Amino acid sequence: QSFFKPIQRAGLPSPAKRHTKISVIGAGNVGMAIAQTILTQDLADEIVLIDAKPDKLRGEMLDLRHAAAFLPRTKIHASVDYEFTVGSDLCIVTAGARQNPGESRLDLLQRNVALFKNIIPPLARFSPETILLIVSNPVDVLTYVSWKLSGFPSNRVIGSGTNLDSSRFRFLIADHLDVNAQDVQAYIVGEHGDSSVALWSSISVGGVPILSFLENQQIAYEKVTLEKIHKEVIDSAYEVISLKGYTSWAIGYSVANLARSILRDQRKIHPVSVIANGFYGIEGGEVFLSLPAQLGRGGVLGVTNVHLTDEEAKRFRDSANTILDVQRQLGI
Ligand code: NAI
Ligand code: LAC
Repeated sequence: QSFFKPIQRAGLPSPAKRHTKISVIGAGNVGMAIAQTILTQDLADEIVLIDAKPDKLRGEMLDLRHAAAFLPRTKIHASVDYEFTVGSDLCIVTAGARQNPGESRLDLLQRNVALFKNIIPPLARFSPETILLIVSNPVDVLTYVSWKLSGFPSNRVIGSGTNLDSSRFRFLIADHLDVNAQDVQAYIVGEHGDSSVALWSSISVGGVPILSFLENQQIAYEKVTLEKIHKEVIDSAYEVISLKGYTSWAIGYSVANLARSILRDQRKIHPVSVIANGFYGIEGGEVFLSLPAQLGRGGVLGVTNVHLTDEEAKRFRDSANTILDVQRQLGI
């Protein structure tokens, strides 16, 4: 028996709304920060959490469900069984080992590649049309591994890449100049990690290109400050990990921001990990690295033709070589 009494309808069919389903693989610090940000931003009709630990998973699911009275309506499911992910529009993969204090992202490689061999094939099987958004580290290599394991076209396999590094960069520049970070346009490209590349020539604040402004003003010492800011970006995760053990809130917002652009077909440009062969002289194998890319319902719609100085292009190629060296040892 229905809770509602039937009423006479005016004859118009109710508008057909597309059902949006997101699966988050890995219900740890990062997966849960992403899930809760997606919930508060009303990005999905259904969220499925998958993890290897059933009790922790059920606890996280119930805890989120208990917030229903304060959130937009979203169905929340959780399971250790990948069948629950069937028909996902977006699969966000955060499962796996994270860095201990002092460890680099690349140190996680062997452990996480082994896990991905059991994670990506079932995701691809249950949601052959999905977009894979990879977050686990080392994210660039694992995005390449996911591309290979899924057999998907490269526009549907995206790494969260330097979207987070670029946000840290914009925050630090904004803090230094005492402006709003949303008014700072600045990109970090290349590896999400120690060999990332800051695109100095592209920084602008409220439409003012910062480098030429500083050169005109002959404020040479500010360039040193900018270099320090990039170093601080690279050190950010190490600092947070040494202080609280892991990073979670910023990556949660960063990935929810990517999910919005993809699922709502926003066609916004984000620095994310995409197949980067042929860009800026990269050769020697297939490699995923961050470049500013346009995202929409089809995944990666294009990569912007951003101008890199010779020095920036060289650093970008060095970043690619770091990743390629690691990939050659994988045998995938
Ligand atoms: P965590 O240890 O809190 O969570 C990892 C979760 O993965 C655990 O709940 C574990 O049970 C689950 N898991 C392990 N094997 C699994 C499997 N085969 N199937 C399903 N679930 C499985 O770690 P945390 O802090 O959530 O970090 C997760 C990953 O995200 C790490 O690799 C970390 O380095 C990465 N990360 C990436 C960032 C980025 O910008 N790309 C930012 C922050 C973290
Ligand atoms: C980050 C993770 C650890 O917060 O990659 O940058």
